[in-house]
Amino acid sequence: MARTLARTLNRPFGRPAAVAAVVAALAFGFAPAGAQTADDPGVYKGRKIADVMSFRGAGWLERASRIQEENPDALMAALPIEEGMLVVDIGCGSGYYARRMAAAVGPEGSVLCNDIQPQMLRIAEELARREGVTNVSTVLGTEDDPKLPEGEVDLMLLVDVYHEFSEPGAMLEAMREALSPDGVIALAEFRFEGRSAAHIKLDHRMSIDQVMKEWIPAGYELVERIDSLPTQHLFLFRAAR
Ligand SMILES: C[S@@+](CC[C@H](N)C(=O)[O-])C[C@H]1O[C@@H](n2cnc3c(N)ncnc32)[C@H](O)[C@@H]1O
Repeated sequence: MARTLARTLNRPFGRPAAVAAVVAALAFGFAPAGAQTADDPGVYKGRKIADVMSFRGAGWLERASRIQEENPDALMAALPIEEGMLVVDIGCGSGYYARRMAAAVGPEGSVLCNDIQPQMLRIAEELARREGVTNVSTVLGTEDDPKLPEGEVDLMLLVDVYHEFSEPGAMLEAMREALSPDGVIALAEFRFEGRSAAHIKLDHRMSIDQVMKEWIPAGYELVERIDSLPTQHLFLFRAAR
């Protein structure tokens, strides 16, 4: 039994529903309120920070089933993205969304594909090259600094990445500073609530309450929340005024 559970916990994504409750108990603890503090290593505001997805799993980011699981066209349609903008895909991985953003901003616009794994950026460059996309450049960030131009970014997109930040406080501050005065950050996270994202590990999902608990005190205000995507919450934030 112990070996079966260990094997299940080591699978990168997805698990039989039967063990989800066990994982929830282990990962988030049904511990007394206040038992877990922001000072615990690997915990931010009561949330267990997820491990970074390795570049070795980049093929998973390009899986055909994403169309059905995430409806990327609907996600893109919900973004305030226009031709000529400077936009950033934070934690872009293989560039699945960066390539879509490139089409939306057109030849007059630019996409910065940001990640902390240089190998991911090489994969993103190669896939963009193969598709003939020319307005995407890569930016290697660090765990606490995305290395973006200050005050210039019209739109940042984070899909399935924020929960992996090992330094969420520093990243929230640096991203806010990179926004242009009317800039927007779009945050997509698999839903913690309900069963729509049951195929995703619990620590790679986020609840609405947890997102608000982390983003509002960090100097953001919610512009809009889109609840119509199949498996993800989509939040549009801007710097608080
Ligand atoms: C699950 S992948 C998602 C990739 C992409 N957003 C997508 O939806 O296809 C998460 C990515 O976030 C990156 N990441 C983790 N922490 C980061 C940080 N502090 N800054 C930038 N990227 C980060 C990882 O290296 C990984 O490529």
